[in-house]
Amino acid sequence: MSEESIVATTTDAPVTTIARVGEHEGKSVTLKGWLYNLRESGKLLFPIFRDGTGTIQGIVPKAAVSPEIFERVKGLTQESSVTVTGKVRADKRAPGGYELDVENVEVLQRVPEETPFPISLKEHGTDFLMEHRHLWIRTPRQSAILRIRAEIIKAARDFLDDNGFVLTDSPILTPAACEGTSTLFPVKYFGDEAFLTQSGQLYIESTAMALGKVYSFGPTFRAEKSKTRRHLTEFWMVEPEWAYATLDDLMGLAEQFISFIVERVLTRRAADLKAIGRDTAKLETIKAPFPRISYDEAAQMLKDAHAKGLIEQPFEYGNDFGSPDETYISLQFDRPVMVHRYPAHVKAFYMEPDPQDAKYALCVDVLAPEGYGEIIGGSQRIASLDLLKKRIEEHNLPMDAFQWYLDLRRYGSVPHSGFGMGIERVVAWICGLEHVRETIPFARTLNRIYP
Ligand code: 4AD
Ligand code: MG
Repeated sequence: MSEESIVATTTDAPVTTIARVGEHEGKSVTLKGWLYNLRESGKLLFPIFRDGTGTIQGIVPKAAVSPEIFERVKGLTQESSVTVTGKVRADKRAPGGYELDVENVEVLQRVPEETPFPISLKEHGTDFLMEHRHLWIRTPRQSAILRIRAEIIKAARDFLDDNGFVLTDSPILTPAACEGTSTLFPVKYFGDEAFLTQSGQLYIESTAMALGKVYSFGPTFRAEKSKTRRHLTEFWMVEPEWAYATLDDLMGLAEQFISFIVERVLTRRAADLKAIGRDTAKLETIKAPFPRISYDEAAQMLKDAHAKGLIEQPFEYGNDFGSPDETYISLQFDRPVMVHRYPAHVKAFYMEPDPQDAKYALCVDVLAPEGYGEIIGGSQRIASLDLLKKRIEEHNLPMDAFQWYLDLRRYGSVPHSGFGMGIERVVAWICGLEHVRETIPFARTLNRIYP
């Protein structure tokens, strides 16, 4: 069905969307939406309409419409639902390039004066806005962010689909941990205990052995007790997994993947990026190849920075990087930096040790620039049955629950690699947002599960 579906209305003007009014310049169209704002100046009314694709200002001169229509618009309350008919006029000063000379307005539901829309155009605190998230998403900035999110997801899927990766969905209810036992959400499962998945990885390792190149894309869960601007308890992860791929192959994939996504958003969502005030010059530089540095090199950067007084906390070699560490490292580059070969003991149980020095894991974290930090985590996976068993024991994981996973090393084990990219972290970076809570329609965090 076309975006401009013809729906029965009381006028002959074609129904269209605000995003497409330009195709009807000089002609009358009908829009279906809501009143975003209204400015009144004597015999002139300036309603701003929104319809989910954008906003457009209308002009209602008292002399140009019937008294009935003028009275209908005058004093109309914010977020009342309306269908509007008017003539499209190009106007260079208008944000979208067009204005509407209003001919008719029909009100479907008038928001009563006694219960006005809670989110006025003045500033509100974040807590208030999150409490009204179901309404906050109607505001132009939040709508633009959600459209960009959708574009990022589509780009990620298109890239993988077009490069031979087959979508294989992973289960959400799982019997065991993938990313450490401290962030598991338990659920009752008919008298047994199960968990919400932390990652689809273990399952797509098995579909990769069946299909070669695969990916999963779904919600993942972490009982994160941290209240940071990067952590959600429920987030969406896209995870490619690739049989016969090495860590180097994986890094090549990651840089192509990210470059493709950024380029797509720049071309298809330029208006939204502009509307939210994103400095796109910072995104134009995001082109493969990306810099690659080892954990040791990154640790040395942090040590030097501390010696020069550029960072407060000294970094202790051998630890995982904390958020401030990642922020500092990522600020040193104008594109994402790929940090590889972390000490094995700070990483997950399934990572292949570096054959050059088993102290390190064949893994990579991709840190986004401008201080955004980790957006991708991935690795080559252990191929040896004996080593994998040993790691499961060392991590005190239940061997029984992993028998099926061990089978992948019993029957034609091969080197293979994959990564997970958190959609919300990528949206935050591409949109230039301070906090991941605005990157998803309904954020789930340590202290919020409403609405
Ligand atoms: O680095 P992580 O924990 O890696 C894995 O889960 C692997 N099993 C993925 C794989 O190899 N298939 O998570 C991957 C990404 C992170 O880089 C980050 O972007 C995102 O998922 N992420 C979160 N995003 C929001 N809130 C959280 N609490 C997140 N935890 C991880
Ligand atoms: Mg990680």
